Amino acid sequence: MTYSQQGPAAEVLRLTEFELPEPGPGQVRVQIAYSAVNPTDVKTRSGMTAQVIGQPQIPHMDGSGIIDAVGEGVAASRIGERVWLMLVAFGSTWGTAAEAIIVDSARAIELPAHITLKHAATIAVPSLTAAYCLFQDGSLTDRNVLIQGGAGGVGRAAIQLAALGGARVYATASTPAKQEIARTAGAHLVVDYRDPQAAEQIMVASGGIDRIIELNLGVNLELDLAVIRTGSSIVTYAADATDPQMPVRRLMMACVDVRFMILYNITPAELANAIEIVSSALERRALTIPPTRVFALEECVDAHVAQEEGPDSRLLLLVNELE
Ligand SMILES: NC(=O)c1ccc[n+]([C@@H]2O[C@H](COP(=O)([O-])OP(=O)(O)OC[C@H]3O[C@@H](n4cnc5c(N)ncnc54)[C@H](OP(=O)(O)O)[C@@H]3O)[C@@H](O)[C@H]2O)c1
Repeated sequence: MTYSQQGPAAEVLRLTEFELPEPGPGQVRVQIAYSAVNPTDVKTRSGMTAQVIGQPQIPHMDGSGIIDAVGEGVAASRIGERVWLMLVAFGSTWGTAAEAIIVDSARAIELPAHITLKHAATIAVPSLTAAYCLFQDGSLTDRNVLIQGGAGGVGRAAIQLAALGGARVYATASTPAKQEIARTAGAHLVVDYRDPQAAEQIMVASGGIDRIIELNLGVNLELDLAVIRTGSSIVTYAADATDPQMPVRRLMMACVDVRFMILYNITPAELANAIEIVSSALERRALTIPPTRVFALEECVDAHVAQEEGPDSRLLLLVNELE
């Protein structure tokens, strides 16, 4: 699948034929099993974000597959490796919505044998974001963490990583089905962020929150302020809502650290740290496969539309049956 200009999915996404690419120095070629649709892919394709696209651009940052060729400087022993792919369309034409792609060797990470290629495609953007947001301020052992949107891709991964890190995890989600996803992921208590009693329920159960992972600061700031402990932090990773009015005095009195992040702009060392956290969690079977819905490669437009509608599951394109 490719697009050469940004716009509505049905108008710009096209099935395209390419020559099989040869990996250059430092690159590998990957036969793609699954290509994941993340909100960032849909935002880039629609033109909502200012990312520069290739001419043409193959969409999708994340995916999974098997290395079948290596370029100069990459060990031939990598051929045959099962990999999860990370941020591959960032600065490259070669997103994962293709039968085979070339990618920097470092963005193709070897999978533990027990992780399926389907699971592998759901890992990168959500889990790396969660890992960065959770652990940039240090250890979570015996800390109370609130994950806003605990049934989302990032939120669910954040619950699992925080629990693995020794935190007591609280989460929010709107519907009973989404609350169940967050509970099953390991949240101690899940409340509806729209419930007027939400803050009280969290305070009664937790006594106060040490770190909040936030995706809608404009909607949730009052709830966050009602449950946060003095000297705590709120880390925000999404900007879909109306910007919040900052209650500076209350934030100041609570000594709250309000921070923001985007995966594309964290440092290489921070990204490496997040990869290490995620890899270790995969080895320890602590990051499990989320609910998924699978489309064919040719149904890429439908998958983008489904993502725009706010799905209950991670959306994947099945590209090659590799396992
Ligand atoms: N900064 C970064 O690097 C980065 C990385 C990954 C993702 N993102 C962004 O983060 C957002 C979420 O990504 P995702 O992949 O996790 O999406 P997702 O799987 O679609 O999940 C989004 C979740 O947000 C919940 N939600 C919406 N409004 C909420 C609110 N006010 N309070 C609590 N939960 C709320 C939704 O559940 P309900 O139905 O319960 O509301 C849904 O479960 C997207 O905007 C994405 O672009 C940013």
